[in-house]
Amino acid sequence: MPLIYEPGYALMAPIAGHTDIPFRRMIRRFGCRYAFTEMIDAGSLAFGGIKTLRLAQRGNDSGFLGIQLVGSDLAHLTRAAEIINDMDFDVLDFNLGCPAPKVERKCEGIMLALTHPDEALRAIERLCAVSRLPVTVKTRIQSEEDARPTVEFCKRAEEAGAKTLTLHGRIMRRFYAGSVFFSIISEVREALHIPVIANGGALSGDLYRELIRETGCANGMIARGALGNPWIFREIAEPDAPPPSVAEFAETIRLYMADMLECYGPEFAFVVARKTLLEFLKGRGYPGTLRAGVSTLNSQDAFEHLMDGIMQGPAPRYLEMLENQGGDLMRKLRS
Ligand SMILES: Cc1cc2nc3c(=O)[nH]c(=O)nc-3n(C[C@H](O)[C@H](O)[C@H](O)COP(=O)(O)O)c2cc1C
Repeated sequence: MPLIYEPGYALMAPIAGHTDIPFRRMIRRFGCRYAFTEMIDAGSLAFGGIKTLRLAQRGNDSGFLGIQLVGSDLAHLTRAAEIINDMDFDVLDFNLGCPAPKVERKCEGIMLALTHPDEALRAIERLCAVSRLPVTVKTRIQSEEDARPTVEFCKRAEEAGAKTLTLHGRIMRRFYAGSVFFSIISEVREALHIPVIANGGALSGDLYRELIRETGCANGMIARGALGNPWIFREIAEPDAPPPSVAEFAETIRLYMADMLECYGPEFAFVVARKTLLEFLKGRGYPGTLRAGVSTLNSQDAFEHLMDGIMQGPAPRYLEMLENQGGDLMRKLRS
């Protein structure tokens, strides 16, 4: 079986409410090769929910794209995999890692793996039997104290037919906070024959390199590190790459908004874009008034006003702070 992911490349994680078509097109521009839809509820897809079908669109995003399913009901998973067989995706990823209350309540995601491992494994087997695509699994570590339960479950997922396994190094009750247990990811990598993809805490290029170094995995998965920072993929490929200049920053936002308008239409695009635009502005030294403007953004005029503010660059106080830390970075930001 050829490798699905070329070693050395970072994968973009599925992130509910974020990894839609415009977001994926944006990260592709900075070198992201492998991306996923957000998790898609197998039951909703099986019953043809319009909103769900929208999430399961490749759109004009032409790169390698996985679709992720979450669910536990075998009939729903079977039907969903059959529907996906007629779509244009590259892998089918099964979510056995989500800790969100609405997923936990249905005993899906990590809850399924923890409390009904046999059912979780039967679900993997069923997806493998029905899907024409390679089936992959994304899960979390099961204990911080002891690697054995995680190793045991992941080995069984491999036996059930998973072609790769992405492992988030935090337990369920930590959600997305706290230490990432590199050593457990590493033990799982050693125990499995299929590639293990390391996930957790790679919020910058340096932290990504640490994740790879400490786990020994050939690929890692970026999640929150790409929100508001699609340049992270460039930072990973070229450690010395400069941060985006104000001009590149503004151009990226313009292209993103153009894709949003094409994808959602003018009635919804500005509202849906707000959270991503806020992420762009976070921690970059732009004045609070600009962020306040994003919270009510609803028209092209308001967007142009925002862009004027962005083109003026970060607040002088922020640039002064950078100047004190190292003039080079400031010059790059201005250029
Ligand atoms: C808002 C949010 C939504 C997420 N949605 C999904 C999802 O749909 N599917 C999934 O497998 N993981 C999802 N995750 C988990 C991420 O893919 C990733 O495993 C986690 O954030 C840890 O990586 P990080 O520390 O680099 O952010 C989500 C995480 C966040 C914060």
